[in-house]
Amino acid sequence: MKKRAIIALTTIVLAGCFSSKKTTSDKKSASSPTQEDVNRVASKFPGYTLTELNEGKALYETQCGECHALYRPTNKTEAEWQRIVPVMVKKINSKGMVLNNEKQDKILRYLITMSGH
Ligand code: HEC
Repeated sequence: MKKRAIIALTTIVLAGCFSSKKTTSDKKSASSPTQEDVNRVASKFPGYTLTELNEGKALYETQCGECHALYRPTNKTEAEWQRIVPVMVKKINSKGMVLNNEKQDKILRYLITMSGH
């Protein structure tokens, strides 16, 4: 009787350990843009605002995840984003003008700002 209770208890404790480990590793670092991000790129993009940064994020999330999973901004360097975004925007616009230069620029600035390299 006692032995069984101990085994049951051990199982519960172990299960608790494993499940809590799983949730921490599954946690995605939701990188919401902050004013600090804007400040970091102030010399690169004079007059840039947190509102524009968030607009870029929203455009990126609505326009760039249709054909493939969204890439993390940190996955590419500034130079890579400069090269890739116009190519992708052309793909998007091939079925009709969806993204004008202003919107392309917003997406690009968001990605460069959050890329951090
Ligand atoms: C119409 C479908 C489509 C949309 C929408 C799209 N992509 Fe892509 N993307 C592709 C395809 C197809 C590839 C595979 C490589 C290629 O064809 O260039 C790709 C590849 C990529 C890559 C990897 C390229 C590399 O060199 O590693 C990145 C990064 C990327 N897309 C970013 C974006 C961004 C940013 C947007 C929004 C502006 C976007 N994609 C929207 C189709 C799309």
